[in-house]
Amino acid sequence: MQNLAELRNVLSRHGQDHLLSFWDTLSEPEREQLASDVEQIDFARFGAILGDLDTGDPDLPADGLSVPQAFPANPTVEFEPTYARGRELGSQILRSNRVGAMVVAGGQATRLGYDGPKGGYPIGPISKKCLFQLFAESILAANRRYECRVPWYIMTSTANHEETITLFESADYFGLDRDDVVFFKQGMMPAADVSGKILLAEKHRVALAPNGHGGSLTALAENGILEAMADRGVDYISYFQVDNPLVSPVDPLFLGLHAMERAEMSSLTIAKASDDEKVGLFVSVDGKTRVSEYTSFPASLASARNADGTRKFDLANIAVHAFDRSFVERIVSGGKGLSLPWHAARKAVPYVDTDTGQTVTPSAPNALKAEMFVFDALPLAARSMLLHATRRECFSPVKNLDGVDSVATAKRDMVRRAAGWLESCGVSVPRTGAGEPDCVIEIGPLHALDHEMLREREPAKLQIERGQHVLLE
Ligand code: UD1
Repeated sequence: MQNLAELRNVLSRHGQDHLLSFWDTLSEPEREQLASDVEQIDFARFGAILGDLDTGDPDLPADGLSVPQAFPANPTVEFEPTYARGRELGSQILRSNRVGAMVVAGGQATRLGYDGPKGGYPIGPISKKCLFQLFAESILAANRRYECRVPWYIMTSTANHEETITLFESADYFGLDRDDVVFFKQGMMPAADVSGKILLAEKHRVALAPNGHGGSLTALAENGILEAMADRGVDYISYFQVDNPLVSPVDPLFLGLHAMERAEMSSLTIAKASDDEKVGLFVSVDGKTRVSEYTSFPASLASARNADGTRKFDLANIAVHAFDRSFVERIVSGGKGLSLPWHAARKAVPYVDTDTGQTVTPSAPNALKAEMFVFDALPLAARSMLLHATRRECFSPVKNLDGVDSVATAKRDMVRRAAGWLESCGVSVPRTGAGEPDCVIEIGPLHALDHEMLREREPAKLQIERGQHVLLE
């Protein structure tokens, strides 16, 4: 931006003059910073996103929606050989170092009210290990089991990049080789109030927010990570979210079926807990599988039933995906070509009131943020694959401070899963009248990644008393 006149001109053309409210009071470096923030804004795209607001999911046809095919969680006899081959192929691609894990951790943990990167949240029911440590230990355990090196790509954002690296440094990378841990930052978009006015985070800073986890795909290209993956022979990307302590960062069956089916992008799915559970749904439109987000999925369809009374649209998105690296390369085509749709999300964003100059920290959503969603890549895949999983084994996200999807439910579900694994190995677990474990059990990933690995540890002799805390790691 050459000068103030030009800056004013651009902003007034887009109805954003208020961003200069404090110009006269700013120092020269602050003015430069503000001008540079404004320069980063793609007004045309931002205006188009705001224009589309409240239209829900424009591509979702009122009828003609169907339910995509998914491999079952428990294979019937006819599927058993396929699953055995899938598991074998998954182990093989892990062994040959062709898999990289990727976590999206650029969000701001606003709903959790946690001050720090969400991955630093201490979630272990006994150990208090943070989410990042659980994932790191799972990857380390997979490295040992498959005698491989799974590189781990961690997407952060400007809001938490430095803090995330500091956290890993201070924990000595949780035992991983630091060359196998790669941090990269996602892009940002401006946040606006409900009338479309872009917010100021400070008098000289535009409120910029992470551009959604769909930004991970462009960020992989823009940060040279796709090339680095190709250099080290990583052909498959195993994608997950930072908020789910039960996730397997690399699951041989899922990755193996993905490769066997020659899918370009695959996803895990589970049955919904209730009609109104806040999860996206896999649907099929014109033969293409895609995710319809809960915020725009019509309530009448969410409660629709099949003739036998089961829920019709019941394939929930747990945000675990597998990508062929070549697919990501193709859709981002050098970082310039990705055209995932932009979605507007309502969020609570602190801002400077341009009338009073005071900073306001809202407790309820006051702003619109524009985000790309990674699952919008699904219909771009020539082939995709869905695998049903069991909720208890793989999904309990930490999104809220209390209530559903909270710290308490995630800890409870970690204990429930551990109790189930021990019982499947013949250990007697004391339970309450309501059937809940009457003890606290935590099984660290280095001890066992699943109940089969646990059985190899011969836990059958374990005696657990009521109320006892048992940490196996
Ligand atoms: C998300 C999915 C939903 C799915 C559910 C499962 C979206 C829009 N919806 O809902 O379909 O059923 O998870 O738990 O994602 N993140 C970034 N950068 C960003 C934004 C988000 O890294 O710019 C990361 C967050 O750190 C978090 C994850 O993406 O780990 C999910 O984002 P969030 O906004 O919490 O999505 P949900 O509404 O929970």
